[in-house]
Amino acid sequence: MEKREQLYEGKAKKVFKTDDPNLLIVSYKDDATAFNGEKKGTIAAKGAVNNRVSNHMMSLLEKEGIKTHYVETLNDRETLVRSVEIIPLEVIMRNIAAGSLSKRLGLPEGTKLSVPVLEYCYKKDELGDPMINNYHIKAMGLATEEELQVIESMAFAINAFMTQYFKTVNIELIDFKIEFGRTPEGEVILADEISPDTCRFWDTNTNEKLDKDRFRRDLGNVEEAYQEVLKRLLGDH
Ligand code: TMP
Repeated sequence: MEKREQLYEGKAKKVFKTDDPNLLIVSYKDDATAFNGEKKGTIAAKGAVNNRVSNHMMSLLEKEGIKTHYVETLNDRETLVRSVEIIPLEVIMRNIAAGSLSKRLGLPEGTKLSVPVLEYCYKKDELGDPMINNYHIKAMGLATEEELQVIESMAFAINAFMTQYFKTVNIELIDFKIEFGRTPEGEVILADEISPDTCRFWDTNTNEKLDKDRFRRDLGNVEEAYQEVLKRLLGDH
């Protein structure tokens, strides 16, 4: 596989073309941003942690029958993925109230939701990723009804699997954000990443935060939290 020119640079990742038009290389950065890029910093070794955590989760999800863009880990921070057209939606699943949901609805952080809650945000930095619903998505042509049905059932299946899986390593999956893409054949598959940048993880026993909220809220021990998640999922190797 030959790495070719850079296609795109985002806040946390770069994407490169390869000599195969169906495959891309994703390179994870240590850069961290929050609040739509207002807060900037770096988290040492974050790129390597997120690369390994995300690839581990996508491999497990594939075994559960969830199709993902993951192809092969290339090195510490680079991964080969299928080229897809990203659907411009942040698909958020919540099990326990936290973050923007707590603020919006006045539910204290840590309140158990009696059923998982699915939310959509429109991926548009200039607008600050506003929350939208199925009707906005269809009216704007962001996804079809059929695609939304696939996205919704995949999101609930991913949540069910990940919730029980993280419990086995003493982590409560509070909420997370995922993104989907369309293959050239028009199939909807899981894309982007699953990492401490995109999930809220709380230690089951202590409720200690083991995710990007440590950076967003200046809680300290940010790098240690990312390393701890990696260690719980993959051990010391
Ligand atoms: P929120 O409570 O700030 O809306 O975040 C919900 C989940 O989505 C949380 O696990 C963090 C994740 N998230 C992202 O991955 N990217 C983002 O830009 C935002 C705002 C949240």
